[in-house]
This record gives sequence, structure tokens and C-alpha cells, in this order.
Amino acid sequence: MAVISMVGVGAGLVLVLLAVALHYSKGTGWEPTADITQEVLERRAATVAETDFPEPMNRSIGGGGGVAAVGAGEEGAELEGEEAEEEQSPADMPEDEVEYFEVEFVKQGETIELASNETVLDQGEDAGMDLPYACRQGSCVSCAAKITDGPAEEYITHHTQETLSDEEMDNGYTLTCVAYPKADFAIETGEAP
Ligand code: FES
Repeated sequence: MAVISMVGVGAGLVLVLLAVALHYSKGTGWEPTADITQEVLERRAATVAETDFPEPMNRSIGGGGGVAAVGAGEEGAELEGEEAEEEQSPADMPEDEVEYFEVEFVKQGETIELASNETVLDQGEDAGMDLPYACRQGSCVSCAAKITDGPAEEYITHHTQETLSDEEMDNGYTLTCVAYPKADFAIETGEAP
């Protein structure tokens, strides 16, 4: 009996070893599933309508993005309104609102009448004066001048002035290329702060 048992155990061992050898030589045939995450995301994105609003809110689920987008839109409209108001130039004022002021050009020894819808520089040139300028956009100081009566903005309106500080304007300095008269004053041209 003992002999038979030993043969049985030996045969079992051989079979197990054979099965293990077969397993490793052929493999199991199992292949990992392909990653379809990206494909699913792309398909899903294609079903959502495109909007003009920036990511990520425009694709949010449940309408939250829509609400945020509408809010941003209203704010944007308000900002545009403010900017449009700021950009309103005295040059665009209706003809029946134009006023005229006496302005003395001290260095030239001339006093002329200037309209409120044209710049000091343009009107000085039209009167035959040789006045300094470069950009004609309020971006340099080539056309700078000094109003001798007091703070510049009590006498003129600056449009798109980007160079002078509040303190400089309080001291009477102005950029004649973007300065529109709104009162009588005396001015010294060619004077930079
Ligand atoms: S010419 Fe440049 S600011 Fe007037």
C-alpha cells in the first residue's frame, strides 16, 4: 500500500509540474482592456453645444455654468458702458453745445478765442502759431504747457491723457494735444513738468 501511495503522489507532482510549465510557456491569453477614457470624454464633449464663454464654466453640468456665464455677460456689458462713457470726447459734442473761451498764449503774446470741441494745440496751430508736439495722442510730453491760472483741469478737459500725474495737472500742466478748453485762461507753451 505504501508503494502505491508513493507512486500516486509522484504522478500527482508530475501532473502539477506539467500544468505549471504549460501555463508559463503559453500564457493565459488574457489581454488588458484598452483605455477608452479619452474617447468617452471626447464623445461627451461633442454632445454639448459650444458657447462664447471661456472654459471651464461653459461645460459645467446642471446649468451652473450657464448662470455664471449670464452673470459675467451682464457685468461685461456694464463695463463696456462705463468705458464708452469714459471715451466720450469733447470733440464729439453737438454743435449747439460748443462754447468759446478767451485764451492768452503768453509766450506768443496773442489772445485768441478757442472752441470747447477742439484741442488747444489744433486751434493754436490754426491761428498760425508754431507749437511743439510729437504723438498728438496724450502719450508723450512734447506738447506740454502750463496754465498759469491754477489747476489745469479747472480750465481744460483732458481726453485720453496718459502721461501727467494728478499732482502735475494740479500744478497747471497740461498736454495741449488732448486739452479741450472749458474756461478762459492764460497758457505758457513749451513748459513740461
Ligand atoms: S504731442 Fe505727445 S502728448 Fe501731446
